Amino acid sequence: MKTTSTEKRIIIALDGPAGSGKSTTARRVAGELGYVYIDTGAMYRAITLAALREERSLTNTDLLPLLEDYHLELVITPDGQRTILGREDVTQEIRSPEVTKFVSTVSALPAVREALSKRQRDMGKNGGVVMDGRDIGTVVFPEAELKIFLMASLEERAKRRLAELGETTLSLQEMCRQIDERDKQDAGRLVSPLRRAHDAIEIDTSHLSIEEQTSRILALARERILA
Ligand code: CDP
Repeated sequence: MKTTSTEKRIIIALDGPAGSGKSTTARRVAGELGYVYIDTGAMYRAITLAALREERSLTNTDLLPLLEDYHLELVITPDGQRTILGREDVTQEIRSPEVTKFVSTVSALPAVREALSKRQRDMGKNGGVVMDGRDIGTVVFPEAELKIFLMASLEERAKRRLAELGETTLSLQEMCRQIDERDKQDAGRLVSPLRRAHDAIEIDTSHLSIEEQTSRILALARERILA
């Protein structure tokens, strides 16, 4: 059931740690409702990529000019969201292990957060969006009509990441270590840490299929759309 033009177009905030299933679920929920899916992690990853390419030190003062100079855009195509940096499509490159290693350091910087949250608010202000990230329900859209916090056990999340990567020499233990390190950095930072908003609904996806978690969120969304 797609929504019709007379229905309320709400904001759905989907937060949670790495591998909790946010992006796949958000994409499906958005598709079902005819909403736009916005992957805010891609924005933090793109700025990290730009900083690494230009060999900038990862500090507020060094990254501020980058944020002003770089044209950063999320483009919606029939094949999904593409991330454009300058004129280049960096959708693949922002998923590299190198970017993943440094993204939590870059995303902890207040200058970076301020610039990107502002853009995210602009992108979602008219509603009809499913936005996923770490601070959407707490900082970017604290007034979102529906806030979901997705969780899953560390081991389950690491298994999902390994499956996503396909061919890799990384062991399950090493993947658990990497994800745990990033979670701790994201949850421990001073500005906009990863945490559940007090009014977010927590869903543990450890034993749920993508279909199950998607339909739970869709049901919650429809309640609010029709309210
Ligand atoms: O897909 P995955 O869960 O690995 O991460 P992501 O959503 O692509 O986000 C990558 C990193 O960006 C996170 O580990 C956070 O450090 C940062 N991030 C953030 O700080 N705030 C957001 N709203 C989204 C991502």
